[in-house]
Amino acid sequence: MNNSEHSLTQSLLRGKKVLITGTTGFLGKVLLEKIIRDIPDVAGVTLLIRGNKKYPKAMDRFRAEILTSSIFERLEETDAEGLNRFVAEKITCIGGEITEPQFGLSDADYQTLASNTDVFINSAASVNFHEALDQALLINTFCLNNIADFSAVAGDIPVVQISTCYVNGYNNGIIAEGISKPAGIDIAADANGLYDVESIFRALQKKINAVRNTVRDKEKLAAALTDLGLAEANAYGWGDTYTFTKWLGEQLILKRMLGKTLTILRPSVVESCLQSPKPGWIEGVKVTDAILLAYAREKVSFFPARKAGIVDIIPVDLVGNSVLLCAAETFAEPNQTRIYQCCSGTQNPLGVNRYVTTICEEVRVNWKKYPRLARKEPKRKFIIVNKALFISAIKLAKMAFTLSDRLRLRSSQNKSKGLQLVESTLRLTSIYATYTSPRYVFNSDKLMALAERMGSADKKLFPVDAALIDWDKYFKEIHVAGLNHYGMVDRSKVEAPVEIEESVATDDVTPVQEGSPA
Ligand SMILES: NC(=O)c1ccc[n+]([C@@H]2O[C@H](COP(=O)([O-])OP(=O)(O)OC[C@H]3O[C@@H](n4cnc5c(N)ncnc54)[C@H](OP(=O)(O)O)[C@@H]3O)[C@@H](O)[C@H]2O)c1
Repeated sequence: MNNSEHSLTQSLLRGKKVLITGTTGFLGKVLLEKIIRDIPDVAGVTLLIRGNKKYPKAMDRFRAEILTSSIFERLEETDAEGLNRFVAEKITCIGGEITEPQFGLSDADYQTLASNTDVFINSAASVNFHEALDQALLINTFCLNNIADFSAVAGDIPVVQISTCYVNGYNNGIIAEGISKPAGIDIAADANGLYDVESIFRALQKKINAVRNTVRDKEKLAAALTDLGLAEANAYGWGDTYTFTKWLGEQLILKRMLGKTLTILRPSVVESCLQSPKPGWIEGVKVTDAILLAYAREKVSFFPARKAGIVDIIPVDLVGNSVLLCAAETFAEPNQTRIYQCCSGTQNPLGVNRYVTTICEEVRVNWKKYPRLARKEPKRKFIIVNKALFISAIKLAKMAFTLSDRLRLRSSQNKSKGLQLVESTLRLTSIYATYTSPRYVFNSDKLMALAERMGSADKKLFPVDAALIDWDKYFKEIHVAGLNHYGMVDRSKVEAPVEIEESVATDDVTPVQEGSPA
């Protein structure tokens, strides 16, 4: 262990030019803020941002959607001058699309970018569980070809790829920080333990083409490709398209960068900040919070889960810190492939029962403190039920309500409240049951060993250990309050209608995916 008072992470990243994708997203913002606050001696940070309708130019989007985020409140309060100086002197925004070769840049711009990058951190992804298969493949899998190409052009620079612990799919038991084996269809592996994903790509492409040739309507085509993704994910051993395509992406980049400097960092379910920049800071409503929100709004009061299972939650600041340790390590020991998991499963296991009881009790008892989450006192307790029994019961209930609606000549646009309730419960079940009925525990021994190697100064400045979390305190004093304050829209300030995420069946949340689901 390095016992120096100086941070090894700071010194390894001093003078380095860091390229980050995904900074309009949740983790990307936390990462950027932490660099500005605690690694101000980097030579520069380039943000690869795609333009959108409102802000076609990357710099405009950065100023409007990133710099205005409440994540920067602390810096604005404590060192506004330093923040402004860093932005002016060290941040470069490049408009690019990582799914395109050369990120859609001209040869000259691409070469300039390559010569101005020492490490590539890829936090961009589609974390939507139900993304259309072709789209999910583009962003979560094939874009890694473009990143591997870029690394080579830039002189074999290190890549830090943010993946997810859930690439583990349907595997059970203790999940180590290594290559994940598909739990479904048998796939051949090579001498390096890497799987023949090329044959999967060919098979998937054939099926995508077949769907495109038969479904012409745009909306129906997207729905059909979403269904295809889910069916293929299930067949190969994953619960959803997102985690399946992230696993394919891991395999692709592992093959492309064999012998080069590559670190894959897999967070579990990422939730609000534990400590910094602000305890409770979060963006939108994340995977597990959707259940809490549905409970607070009295949409569901029972849910299928495995009480004895370990639900794996990790605060976003610990993930951001882990990314920085990983990036720093690539300069200390290059030409290695590493896989780390940033999670709480073995360091500080949180039982499903404890988790659900704690957060729901907090909202039930102190609902007045959380006006954006709960509009009135949730009357019922939240009850965890056995998954198989629950699904049978809810399907029976759906049949009964459907029949009753038909007898009353109700159309599908005018469904009874009862049918709407069972349908929204079934939707939530299908999305979240894999996460709430776990028979796996994620291990993070290698990440803990990395933290140990980086030393005592980094343990204080860039903590990554889930053992630091006091779960009761985190949920009761930090997370629920953070979700209410930062994650939810303040209705009094909303002028236009806010986007509604259908699967959560609530009316003032930002879309729910991993993040907003793993
Ligand atoms: N949040 C979690 O619970 C969780 C858990 C485990 C792992 N992860 C991983 O952590 C990483 C960050 O997740 P997050 O929660 O921050 O996700 P997020 O909030 O949804 O952000 C995703 C980011 O990816 C960008 N992106 C998506 N498609 C893109 C494209 N085609 N070209 C360029 N950029 C694109 C988005 O940019 P736009 O704004 O332009 O769409 C956004 O900046 C992901 O790799 C995810 O798989 C997240």
